[in-house]
Amino acid sequence: MIMASEDPLSSSRAVVDYMEKNGVREFFIKPDVVEKALAEHGLLVPLSEPEPEDKSASTQPEEGRGMQPGGTPYCDEAGEGLSEITETTVGGGGRDEKTVFVGEKGVGADDVDTADTQVDTNSTEPDRGVGGNTGSGRPPVIDPLDGFDIPPDLSDGFEARRLTPEIEVLMDVTDRIESSGSVEYFRKYFSDRYKKLRALVRKHQGYSGNTSVVDVERMQPGDEIRVVAIIKDIKVTDRGTRIVELEDEFGTAKAIIPSNSPLTSLPLVNDEVIGVSITRSPGRGSLIIKEVVFPDIPARKQEADDRKPDRRVYVAFVSDVHVGSDTFLPGAWARFVGFLRGVGVKNGKKEIAENLKYLVVSGDLVDGIGVYPNQEKELVIHDIESQYRALAKIFRRVPDHVEVLMLPGNHDMVRQAEPQPAFSDPIKEIFVEEGLNIHFLSNPTLVSIEGVKILAYHGRSMDDFLGLVPGLSYENPIEAMKIMLQKRHLAPVYGGKTPIAPEPVDHLVIETIPDIFVTGHVHSVGVDRYRGVLLVNSSTWQSQTSFQKMHNFNPIPARVPVVNLQTLEHEILDFSR
Ligand SMILES: [Fe+2]
Repeated sequence: MIMASEDPLSSSRAVVDYMEKNGVREFFIKPDVVEKALAEHGLLVPLSEPEPEDKSASTQPEEGRGMQPGGTPYCDEAGEGLSEITETTVGGGGRDEKTVFVGEKGVGADDVDTADTQVDTNSTEPDRGVGGNTGSGRPPVIDPLDGFDIPPDLSDGFEARRLTPEIEVLMDVTDRIESSGSVEYFRKYFSDRYKKLRALVRKHQGYSGNTSVVDVERMQPGDEIRVVAIIKDIKVTDRGTRIVELEDEFGTAKAIIPSNSPLTSLPLVNDEVIGVSITRSPGRGSLIIKEVVFPDIPARKQEADDRKPDRRVYVAFVSDVHVGSDTFLPGAWARFVGFLRGVGVKNGKKEIAENLKYLVVSGDLVDGIGVYPNQEKELVIHDIESQYRALAKIFRRVPDHVEVLMLPGNHDMVRQAEPQPAFSDPIKEIFVEEGLNIHFLSNPTLVSIEGVKILAYHGRSMDDFLGLVPGLSYENPIEAMKIMLQKRHLAPVYGGKTPIAPEPVDHLVIETIPDIFVTGHVHSVGVDRYRGVLLVNSSTWQSQTSFQKMHNFNPIPARVPVVNLQTLEHEILDFSR
């Protein structure tokens, strides 16, 4: 990062060194960065042999069938070794699942009468759910729900069936992606990030001036200035003092946070934009950071009348379906589908089922191919197209009055660098062939549903936050989401675990304050609020993988947060049993 540097890449952590020949600079980039880049372009993807045997659900009648002692790392990234993940993965033994239902009403399994969902309805779907060769040279189409009883669709009388959907896409990057990765794009990217977030910091009292970090050098003992800057680097000395290098468009400066300062507990990360108050100490003349201001969102009322729909309507949030993995949970999905169809719904939840109009799916729809080493051993569907065909099969069981909004994650077949565009036309076509009309969106995206603004982001940057900010854990991703809002950025750390494309506009800045902010990725679940924004981390449909088992991480699959858009009241429904 890079605004003051004449050559932005020369200060990027991805760059090891550079040399100049005849006025042209040649950059040497870290090998792992090159590997990642190759992987993102499909050049490091291992070619797996086509699976000769159909391992589909049809041969395995029980939930979890096909589960081997192992499984897949949750949302692991190509090119990242186990040792890196170890640093950020929760340790210890099992946990109480209720602890992640942050301040909310966890709904037990008895809220959904699962016994009632076991209805033999083969006759209701005479033409559905049977895999077979398409006859077009494609691999056999696997239906993960084949062999599972799919309840009949009893949603005819549902109020949601009569509602006209009200969806407006407020931000989608799909048609706005243009990065070439050139130096010029890096400069534009960080300049745009800085200017947008500087404008937000300047709204804080005392930070509206134009002071630059280069003015720090002229400070006399006892002076104090306030500046808005990007954190270029943070180093911690053996004594616990933080040395913070700050950068703006005019230059850089270093200031310290003493080890005994309360500011040492702040979740500062590289490349974020903050406001700082700096003093020069009278004694040794050290430059000391006395205050840190984040862009943040203003505290506001929970209920804003202008966003309230005038009708009762619910939205459900899911993510991390991971179709194709041998740890995908078809039985749990069948129970969820049954709920949407009005089968086995207890009285207390009937109102939700009848008024549930929207389903937001926040990425990692399939398990992918070559996402992590030896992934092929944990797949039951070994080619990416067949994974999406299987995915379309399971979404076909969602009743058609439910509007499905879908964005990709790091396991999906779109570019890995964020922001990620919506699925490409060939993948969309797979859903069309199944008769589905899905709203395909980018990652991240901002949509208005019934006037309620929903920011949806898969959540890969949580891997960075959880590794860098003490006290965060995969079991409580909501805290990382609060930090994103505080920083007004979904993925501020450049060159970390989250690949970021330097677009000329930083689409990862949270410019518009949403009413609901949803993520997935970590295979946990939780709901909370931060300054009037409802935070939702949606669950997974994949049981514990070998990687998670190795690290004593217990995912919380098959939970579905649902939100009443009129009141923003919420519940977490449990379809795990
Ligand atoms: Fe993920």
